[in-house]
Amino acid sequence: MSTSTHAYRAAILHSIADPAVVGIEASYEYFDDGVLVVENGLIKAVGHAVDLLPTLQGVAISQYPNALISPGFIDTHIHFPQTGMIASYGEQLLDWLNTYTFPTEQQFADKAHAAEVASIFLKELLRNGTTTALVFGTVHKQSVDAFFEACEVLNLRMIAGKVMMDRNAPDYLTDTPESSYADSRELIERWHGKGRLHYAVTPRFAPTSSPEQLSLAGELFQQYPDLYMHTHLSENRQEIEWVKGLFPERKGYLDVYDHYRLIGPRAVFAHGVHLCDDECKRLAETGSAVAFCPTSNLFLGSGLFDLPKLEAHGVRVGLGTDVGAGTSFSQLQSLNEAYKVMQLQGKKLDPFKSLYLATLGGARALYLDDKIGNFAQGKDADFVVLDYQATPLLSYRLAQATTLAEKLFALIMLGDDRAIKETFAAGNSVHKRD
Ligand code: GUN
Ligand code: ZN
Repeated sequence: MSTSTHAYRAAILHSIADPAVVGIEASYEYFDDGVLVVENGLIKAVGHAVDLLPTLQGVAISQYPNALISPGFIDTHIHFPQTGMIASYGEQLLDWLNTYTFPTEQQFADKAHAAEVASIFLKELLRNGTTTALVFGTVHKQSVDAFFEACEVLNLRMIAGKVMMDRNAPDYLTDTPESSYADSRELIERWHGKGRLHYAVTPRFAPTSSPEQLSLAGELFQQYPDLYMHTHLSENRQEIEWVKGLFPERKGYLDVYDHYRLIGPRAVFAHGVHLCDDECKRLAETGSAVAFCPTSNLFLGSGLFDLPKLEAHGVRVGLGTDVGAGTSFSQLQSLNEAYKVMQLQGKKLDPFKSLYLATLGGARALYLDDKIGNFAQGKDADFVVLDYQATPLLSYRLAQATTLAEKLFALIMLGDDRAIKETFAAGNSVHKRD
């Protein structure tokens, strides 16, 4: 096999550890004039231009002035079928599901429709610098086929699954315990571990699955190595009361999933806005992860996520957009809202912690930190080029900044899809803004 090497020169920033563990200064590496060397789709080296340029005789180098290269963003919770219903007015979770979500998801019985939306969705993710996402399909297995087929063409690292739901939803959108098990198995056999694709067993949330279905979902999750489990947890107070009524014999919401063996490494729970200490402890000790979805939690009025509390318990936390309840595909915008969620609780969110959440922290939540999340040698070359001059205001504000922290914070607060100049996946350019 012939070797293909390419280098990228710009300012380069990446997380190397959790700031909560090592402190801010030890959590990142920054190269003001840096070079990222990519060989056969993997990271070969990162460092200062003065050190690396002499080793790169004959290697093509792309230069990006006034730009910052960072690892691609990781979205730990999103729904591809909800792309067309983002920004739907006026409801909180349960009414929002009945009014907007279920009718929208019905359309994904049609594979051609699913393929069309998958293509729009992936373009939007890449336009926003997101290179890996944990993705809900619909109840229809063809929705997941359509999604993975589109990902395969671009050689993306993506995780997805077919929704399992057999009750408390319209008839047109329900499966059965047996059919959901068989369909999920078929999809796992077809897609899990193919290229850079992974499968997630995806019960929608406890209220829409019977005990029999949750039991089979748990069986499936335990059956295959490295499989994911993806669901919703403790998002909305009415939802939590409903779960208590449906499963009175369980200690609480998380205990429902725990009982059915839907917990552990690679189990990712979206939201977790209203968790008690015992639930945080259980999430931490089982190695489960929570997706913090600030734009969604504000949009649906679900509540304020207590990041420091989950962190103090040692829970793995990633950042999610939760589109279509989330209002932006941009993880910069998610971080903007995350900052405000912390402010409303009298807390702060350091910009380097924000960078960590959107990259290496997300990779850790997904147990993919040996593959993605930063520029360690051998990882996938999934990265973004951020444009310091994306808008007149960003350009002007950054010209006033005197430290990297100030620059990064302003980039997060003012940035969105316009700030993503180019996105690379496995070393290939998959989005070019200009
Ligand atoms: N809980 C169950 N289904 C959903 C969904 O589609 N979006 C959100 N935000 N919460 C849910
Ligand atoms: Zn969701």
